[in-house]
Amino acid sequence: MRIHDLFRGSLADIRQTLFGYGLMHTYQSLEKFLGLEKELPVAENWSAAADFLELISNYCLQHKPQTIVECSSGTSSLVLSRCCQLNGQGQVYSLENGHDFASQTRRQLDDFELADYCHVLHTPLQEYLLDGRKFQWYDLTNLYASGIDLLVIDGPPGFLQKYSRFPALPLLSSFMAEQCMVFLDDAAREDEQEIVRCWLQQHPEFEAEYIENERGCSVLMRR
Ligand SMILES: C[S@@+](CC[C@H](N)C(=O)[O-])C[C@H]1O[C@@H](n2cnc3c(N)ncnc32)[C@H](O)[C@@H]1O
Repeated sequence: MRIHDLFRGSLADIRQTLFGYGLMHTYQSLEKFLGLEKELPVAENWSAAADFLELISNYCLQHKPQTIVECSSGTSSLVLSRCCQLNGQGQVYSLENGHDFASQTRRQLDDFELADYCHVLHTPLQEYLLDGRKFQWYDLTNLYASGIDLLVIDGPPGFLQKYSRFPALPLLSSFMAEQCMVFLDDAAREDEQEIVRCWLQQHPEFEAEYIENERGCSVLMRR
């Protein structure tokens, strides 16, 4: 099955569901869709956009991934954890370099009674050498998740370095399940487009689709 086919089905479903509420692509529509009784905490410019969160929730609710890893914690952690709660299965492992951001996300998970579904790992950035180039990326020492079914990449922040999110695939691909789905946020940016080009060159077993939404999203899976 091609990503496009698999994904078109998912998008159609979520559109239909969200049209029922007469709202699209807003955090409020997502809260209703996920049956959340509290407002999602959203930090302008930092939280993932509502339409990206819709995509990953829709995928999660349809495919019920067991092991989810996300690069960077926050609103996305709450949304993914809520999907696991609704699915009655699944665990989120959230890599977060900021100590205070990790604590904040843990507090928010407690507040939403979702802490059972998410391990927020404080993973300070460390230096990796990939293709002769240095990158600051999450310390994976405490990540014991193997067979990752869903990988959501929304960090580290782009301002830290050029091609900040590049290490995700080279460093995590060996932990990924054969059918793992990868969602890269902010894929409209030049850096992210170059990252996807490099990934596909180096990992020809993957294919990618670009979804045009607020900040762009690239979806990858093994052929
Ligand atoms: C683009 S944010 C992604 C946050 C998360 N995926 C979400 O949906 O909320 C990436 C990283 O920026 C940092 N960050 C989060 N909120 C921030 C803020 N208000 N100011 C500065 N950095 C922030 C955190 O380290 C976070 O991991």
